Amino acid sequence: MEQVRELHRLRDRIAAARARGLTVGFVPTMGALHEGHLSLARQARSACGLVVVSIFVNPKQFAPGEDFERYPRSPEKDAALCEGAGVDLLYTPEAADFYPDGFATSILVQGVIEGGEGAVRPGHFPGVAMAVAKLFLRVLPDKAFFGRKDLQQVAVVRRMIRDLDFPVELVVGETVRDADGLALSSRNVYLSPEDRRLAAALPRALFAARARVERGERDPGSLEKTARQDLVQAGLSVDYADVVDSATMRRPFRIEPGTALAAAVRVGKTRLIDNVLLLEER
Ligand code: PAJ
Repeated sequence: MEQVRELHRLRDRIAAARARGLTVGFVPTMGALHEGHLSLARQARSACGLVVVSIFVNPKQFAPGEDFERYPRSPEKDAALCEGAGVDLLYTPEAADFYPDGFATSILVQGVIEGGEGAVRPGHFPGVAMAVAKLFLRVLPDKAFFGRKDLQQVAVVRRMIRDLDFPVELVVGETVRDADGLALSSRNVYLSPEDRRLAAALPRALFAARARVERGERDPGSLEKTARQDLVQAGLSVDYADVVDSATMRRPFRIEPGTALAAAVRVGKTRLIDNVLLLEER
């Protein structure tokens, strides 16, 4: 595996791979890698000739007062994990190179960002869209791999790819969970043992909703209400628990293939998001 920091080096390596006829698979991350990220890297490994992972803690997707400064960073461990997952190229750009002085452009993917995380964190998805768009233009991948854990992010990226004609195929990887059901997240390191015990109620409530759908429940309002009650009863403070169409992020009239339940809760000072598909996509 090779690690590159500079854009011209990245471009050289990718051009060389392309000249050898390799397809390029790309997994963008913010580091502090865990099995969720690595599962995406392994999918890229089995689908593509050259696997590129980027690690860039993107300042634009954090609001003032959020955890940008204390976001977990573990560069050496991340490099070893990438190596182990069969990554060919680890791209770690510097913020000053990524966002040159005077940077003035923005990307606003409307509609899909109105609810959920977009409503609670107004600048977040424009920041994500900018980082992903720039990374796509730098790496020019054939396939890009994103986790379903960040359902609204997937909807934003899918919409942006369509709207801006990025010649990239989006591949969505399933959410990787710990034994207690909690979705792996770089931010889980913020949880105390007691927080961690409480946090397991989040996936429990989501899976309970899916079980209700399996038993025939089709009313979004009733599912939201029960999920919210489950979360509050478990001692969590609920930002939202919304039934959404995973492509548009709008609330559907009834539960259909591709409908998900997405929730955000606070445990102590930590904010956690998760979702489950209520009915598999056809
Ligand atoms: P980050 O949070 O590091 O996540 C990188 C990728 O890993 C995302 O596609 C995310 O959905 C996926 N991922 C995280 N936890 C996962 C889990 N438990 N199971 C499966 N996949 C998981 O998402 C970002 O970084 C940034 O917003 C980024 C896209 C890199 C833009 O800055």
